[in-house]
Amino acid sequence: MARVVLKDLTKRYAGGNLAVDRLNLEVADGEFVCLVGPSGCGKTTALRMIAGLEDISSGEVSIGDKVVNMLPPRDRDIALVFQSYALYPHMSVYDNMAFGLKLRKTPKADIERSVREAARILDLERFLDRKPGQLSGGQRQRVALGRAIVREPAVFLMDEPLSNLDAKLRVQTRAEIARLHQRLQATMIYVTHDQVEAMTMADRIAVISDGVLQQVGTPKQLYEEPCNRFVAGFIGSPSMNFVELKVQREDGMRLVCEGTQVVLDDAMAAQLRDLGLEAATVGVRPEHLRVGEPEGPGLRVSATVDVVEFLGNDALIHAAAEGRDVVAIVGADIHLAVGDAVILSAAPRHVYLFEPQSEMSLGAR
Ligand SMILES: Nc1ncnc2c1ncn2[C@@H]1O[C@H](COP(=O)(O)OP(=O)(O)O)[C@@H](O)[C@H]1O
Ligand SMILES: [Mg+2]
Repeated sequence: MARVVLKDLTKRYAGGNLAVDRLNLEVADGEFVCLVGPSGCGKTTALRMIAGLEDISSGEVSIGDKVVNMLPPRDRDIALVFQSYALYPHMSVYDNMAFGLKLRKTPKADIERSVREAARILDLERFLDRKPGQLSGGQRQRVALGRAIVREPAVFLMDEPLSNLDAKLRVQTRAEIARLHQRLQATMIYVTHDQVEAMTMADRIAVISDGVLQQVGTPKQLYEEPCNRFVAGFIGSPSMNFVELKVQREDGMRLVCEGTQVVLDDAMAAQLRDLGLEAATVGVRPEHLRVGEPEGPGLRVSATVDVVEFLGNDALIHAAAEGRDVVAIVGADIHLAVGDAVILSAAPRHVYLFEPQSEMSLGAR
C-alpha cells in the first residue's frame, strides 16, 4: 500500500485549456479520498495523470514516496475502475478477472486463489462461468472491481464507477465499495460528480471547481465549515439557500433585504465590522430552516409557499420571498399548503456569511 502525493499537478491541453491548475493533495496510506466537482471540472484529467494515462504539463505525482511522472501506467502499482466496465465479452467472469494476472505470468494456482477470494468478497462466486453479457450492470461492475482487486495494487483509482447503475444499485454498490475499502485497507482515490457518493464513502473529500481545488476535508468539515460559497452550495442536498443582504446599523446590527433579515449575534457583527462590509451573502441549509419566528438573533424569512413535496417523514417546501426561491425541509406534521404565508427562521449557528465579491466564507477567514 502507499500514499499518494500531488504537488502543483497541472494539465494544460493543446489549445490552452487549463483542465487542472496546480492541484496539491496528500492521500494517506489506506485513505479513501473522493475528488468531487461538477462535470468538466478536471476530475478525470487529474485521475488519468495519477494513473499515467495523461501527460503531466507540470507538477509531480508521487506514489509510495516515489515520483512516478515518467513511469508508464503498468509500473505505477495502481488499478483503475472506470464507468464503462470494459470487460472482455467473449471471456467468462473468471477469465476476465484472471486476465491481468495471466499476462504477468502469475502461477496458475495463485491466480485461482486470488480470483476465488475476490469472487467471494464481491459475492460473484455463482457467476464465475458466465459471460459479461449474462450479468446485470451491477454484477458487471463488481467483476470490474474484482479484476482490480486480484492485482493487489497499492492504489485503487476509480472514475465514476457507479454512474451506469440505476439508483438502487448505486446505493448498494456504494456500500460494497465502502466495505471493500475497510476490508482491503487500500489507498483509494475515487472520482465522482455526485456529492452524496462522496459524503457517504470518503474519509476525506477534495472539492474541485474549474480545475482548482477549493477545499479538502472530512465530509463533516465540508458540511459544517465550507470555505466558500461554491463548496457550501455543492455539498449538501438540497443545496444551501443564498441571499444577498445589506448591512443596517439602526438598533443593533442587522442584515436586511425585502422579506429577509438576519439579526446578528455579537460574533457575526464583529466580523462584518472588522471587514468594513456593507453587504454580505447569507447562506442557510434547507434542513436548518424551521417554521416560526426566530428565538432571539438569527435569520427570519417571510415567504409564501409555492410547492409542497411530501417526503414521508419530512416535507420539502419551496417558498417565494419577494421573488427569491427559498427551500426548506420541515416536519411532515407541519401542515402547509400552497399559497400559505409562512415565517421561516434559523439560529445564528446555522447562518453562513460570505464576502460578496470573493465569495469566501467569513467564518473561514
Ligand atoms: N483530450 C482533451 N483535450 C482537450 N480538452 C480536454 C480533453 N479532455 C478533457 N478536456 C477538457 O478538460 C476539462 C476537464 O475535463 P475532465 O477532466 O474530463 O472533467 P471531469 O472529469 O471533471 O468531468 C474540460 O473542460 C474538458 O472539456
Ligand atoms: Mg470525468
